[in-house]
Amino acid sequence: MGYDVKFITKNFGKYDPMSIDSYLSIGGFAALKRAMAMDGEDIASLIAEAKVKGRGGAAYDMGRKWSQSRAVKAPHKLVICNADEGETCTFKDRELIKNDPFNLIEAITICGYTVNAQDGYIYLREEYRHLRPLLLNAIKQAEEHNLLGYNIQNTGFNFHIHLYSGAGAYVCGEGTALIRSIEGKAGRPRKKPPFMKVSGLFALPTCVNNVESFSIVPHLLMDEAREYVSYGSGESLGTKLVSLGGNVRRPGVYEIPFGTTVRDIIYELGQGIPGGQSLRLIQFGGASGKISDGRILDTPYTYDDLKAAGVTVGSGSILVIDNRTSVLDFLRMTQDFFSEESCGQCTPCREGNLHIKLILEKMARGEATQADIRDMKKIATIMSISSLCGLGESAQNALLSAMKIFPKIFEIGGAA
Ligand SMILES: Cc1cc2nc3c(=O)[nH]c(=O)nc-3n(C[C@H](O)[C@H](O)[C@H](O)COP(=O)(O)O)c2cc1C
Ligand code: SF4
Repeated sequence: MGYDVKFITKNFGKYDPMSIDSYLSIGGFAALKRAMAMDGEDIASLIAEAKVKGRGGAAYDMGRKWSQSRAVKAPHKLVICNADEGETCTFKDRELIKNDPFNLIEAITICGYTVNAQDGYIYLREEYRHLRPLLLNAIKQAEEHNLLGYNIQNTGFNFHIHLYSGAGAYVCGEGTALIRSIEGKAGRPRKKPPFMKVSGLFALPTCVNNVESFSIVPHLLMDEAREYVSYGSGESLGTKLVSLGGNVRRPGVYEIPFGTTVRDIIYELGQGIPGGQSLRLIQFGGASGKISDGRILDTPYTYDDLKAAGVTVGSGSILVIDNRTSVLDFLRMTQDFFSEESCGQCTPCREGNLHIKLILEKMARGEATQADIRDMKKIATIMSISSLCGLGESAQNALLSAMKIFPKIFEIGGAA
C-alpha cells in the first residue's frame, strides 16, 4: 500500500476548477443526484459506517452529527462549512478548495439535503480571500445548472450557499465564535448548551463541518468498490490529509491511509530533515496540539495509536522542528500566538496565557525559579479545565506535553 493515496484528492488536476462543464465531464454532481434519490438517514448511516470523524480538530463522529442534525425538526435549518483553517501549519483545506471547489459545493448541498437545511454558509479565513472568486464562480455555475438554488433537478429541494470571510481571528474557527462573526458581532465563543444543532447561526439549527470532512462525502457516496474502508483499521478507517511542514525537505499536503507510520510521513513523504540536522520535536494538530520527540516515529498515524502515544490528530498538521530551535523557544513562540489570539473574555485564558508567557520569558533570561515552574504548571492545568472554550482548554497542550517529554528543561539549571 502506498503512502500517498488519492481518494479525497482524486479529482485534483483532473478538471478545471473554474468550469462546471469540466467537473461534470469527470462525473461531478453524480453523488448529489444519487444522494437526492436516497433517504437522508441512509446517507448519515453510510458516513457513520465508514467511521468518518470530523477533520476540523475535535474528531466528532460525522455520521452521528448529520443524523442528530436531521432529527431536529424546524422549518429553517442551516449548514456551515468551516473553512477558517486557523491552526498553525495546517493548509489542507486550502488545497481542497483550490483544486476541487465543485466537490465542496456538491458536498455541502448533500449535507443540506441530508439534514433538511435550506441554506449553507462557507466561512472562509481572511487569508484565503484569493480563493473567493473560485468559490463564488462554483456557486454561480452550480446555480445556473440547477444543481444549487430553487427546486434542484426538479426534486423540490431548495438549497442556497453563501460565502462569508473572516477578519483574521484564530478563535473564529471555533463554531460559536464563527457564527457570531457571520452575524456581524464580535467573534467571541459562547457557552454550550444550547448546542449548534439546536440553536446556531441566527438562532437556527445548524450543522457545522470542516472542509475536509465535507469533501469526503461525494467520493464516499460513489465508492461502490468500498475503497475508502479498505484503508486503515479499527476506529481509523479510510484516508486522511496531513499538512506536513517545518524542517522537512518536502513540506506539503499528503493524503495518507490511516496507519501510515509517523516515520514514513516525515522521512518518506517529507524526505526527512534537511542540512544534516537532527529531530528536536514534532507537534501534531496545530498550535493547540501536543508535542513529542523521536520516540513517536514508529507510531501508526491513527486516532488510537496517537492518543496512546500522548498526542492527537487534531487539525491534521505535523510540524517538524529540528535541533536548531530549542524547546523553550518553540514554547515561547506558541505562547506568543495564544497570548495574541485569546479573545480575553474569560479569566483563566486571558490571565493564564499572559502569566505563562511571562514565566517562559523569565526562563529564557535564566531568572525563573522552581516555584515559577510549579506555578506555570498549575496555571496551565487550571486553564485546561476551566476555560470557556477550546482555545483556553488546549492552549497549554504544547507546554504540558513538553513537561512530560522534556522534563529536564523544567528543572532549573537544566539544558534547553
Ligand atoms: C479555538 C478553536 C479554533 C478552531 N478552528 C477551526 C478551524 O479553523 N477549522 C475547523 O474546521 N474547525 C475549527 N475548530 C473546530 C470547530 O469548533 C468545530 O469542531 C469543527 O468545525 C466541526 O467540524 P468537524 O466535525 O467536521 O471537524 C476550532 C475549534 C476551536 C476551539
Ligand atoms: S477560553 Fe480564551 S478564547 Fe475562549 S472564550 Fe475564554 S478568553 Fe476567549
